Amino acid sequence: MAKRVFIKTYGCQMNVYDSARMVDLLVPLGFLVADTPQDADLVILNTCHIREKAAEKVYSELGLIRRMKAAKARRGGNMMIAVAGCVAQAEGAEIMRRAPCVDLVFGPQSYHRLPELIARAPGAGVLDTSFSAEPKFDYLPEATAPQGVTAFLTVQEGCDKFCSFCVVPYTRGAEYSRPVAQVLAEARHFIGDGVREITLLGQNVNAYHGEGLDGRECGLGRLIRTLAELPGLDRIRYTTSHPRDVDDELIAAHREVPQLMPFLHLPVQSGSDRVLILMNRRHTAGDYRRIVERLRSARSDLALSSDLIVGYPGETDEDFQATLDLVGEVRFAQAFSFKYSPRPGTPAASAAGQIAEQVKSERLAALQLLLARQQRDFNEACVGRVLPVLFEKPGRREGQLVGRSPYLQSVHVAASADRIGKIAPTLMSGASANSLSGSLVEAVAI
Ligand code: SAH
Ligand code: SF4
Ligand code: F3S
Repeated sequence: MAKRVFIKTYGCQMNVYDSARMVDLLVPLGFLVADTPQDADLVILNTCHIREKAAEKVYSELGLIRRMKAAKARRGGNMMIAVAGCVAQAEGAEIMRRAPCVDLVFGPQSYHRLPELIARAPGAGVLDTSFSAEPKFDYLPEATAPQGVTAFLTVQEGCDKFCSFCVVPYTRGAEYSRPVAQVLAEARHFIGDGVREITLLGQNVNAYHGEGLDGRECGLGRLIRTLAELPGLDRIRYTTSHPRDVDDELIAAHREVPQLMPFLHLPVQSGSDRVLILMNRRHTAGDYRRIVERLRSARSDLALSSDLIVGYPGETDEDFQATLDLVGEVRFAQAFSFKYSPRPGTPAASAAGQIAEQVKSERLAALQLLLARQQRDFNEACVGRVLPVLFEKPGRREGQLVGRSPYLQSVHVAASADRIGKIAPTLMSGASANSLSGSLVEAVAI
């Protein structure tokens, strides 16, 4: 009988990509993917350590899974529990101590050894959080294309920036870029299996500097141009970018590559130069404004998204006001905002001037009000426009499909299922806080 693996994925898109690769490693061992942890032979929690709440979720989930494991054991069965991802990397030994039900802990740079780890785990308790010297990508089997029309493709991993609030450089390790040939091979394979849109992933994707086809270093702008030549790839996106690594070549790609979608997630974190220095971001609010200006003059309809942190240690009312001012000027189509969460081992966690929870909550509420208004304004401004929509899947209602606009908005449209995987001009007829509704242009014409 086939064995069953259940994987629960937390955190960013890179974890989503990693979970898919774990499946690729497990299928040859006879595993099928299960929809629930109940009765699974192997349960993997692929975890995120970015904020305290994200990390705590792992322990509460482990509480539930431990009971399932015990129930299965009473029936004479066995369930192996594994913790992967960034919490595993950051506090592997602590997990083994706090949750004895866990058989296996492995970090983001060791999951290519999964088959070997699973073989060693029974009765042993295995911890592998080494940062392998060899890039794991060379050891992974060929990636299976996701079912669907959109795919994530990791091109870069790790981060050398060390923003003072962030765990990523510690959990993912140093920056690494996959060679262009490897990226192209994976993209071709995805496209052959029906993928029409690829999102290039990296913790710092625009720091990409992989080995080019000519043996020389290649930046993200040039990688995008190379990918755009692949027949059948209609849309390219990339995330997450750092303002410091937006170079001329990338801006030119936004001007000249039609497949590159006019939507960019470009975290700014704060609008106050004082806070940006404390954060070790190595860019000013003015730098950010200028980058946005240059991007928008390359591609006038570019929609922007961002990440913002409120209540960073030492943030004053004036600093917070500077963030509101910057957001007010830039006008985001969408953005994520967070209360600063102290992370063990990062410089900011022990910095002076930690902000009271109440103040953080008030600032977050004010910022989110502004961002929600901007998102609604952006969506409403699309009403009446005809936008190309890539249809991805059936909608909740009968006879309805859900697709994406170039600006990453979800669009609900009455259309038949044979449109899935195709792009069609669609008239936007309604906007809500988070999505649009529209109708196919030829349907309107009839
Ligand atoms: N590599 C990306 C983002 C990685 S983490 C970048 O450089 O921008 C995603 C977002 O989580 C960050 O942009 C930041 O806004 C937020 N974040 C990271 N650490 C945090 C912390 N300690 N508290 C609150 N938010 C945090
Ligand atoms: Fe974290 Fe900063 Fe690196 Fe982004 S650039 S992953 S926020 S350290
Ligand atoms: Fe979380 Fe690790 Fe991604 S900390 S955001 S899963 S890189």
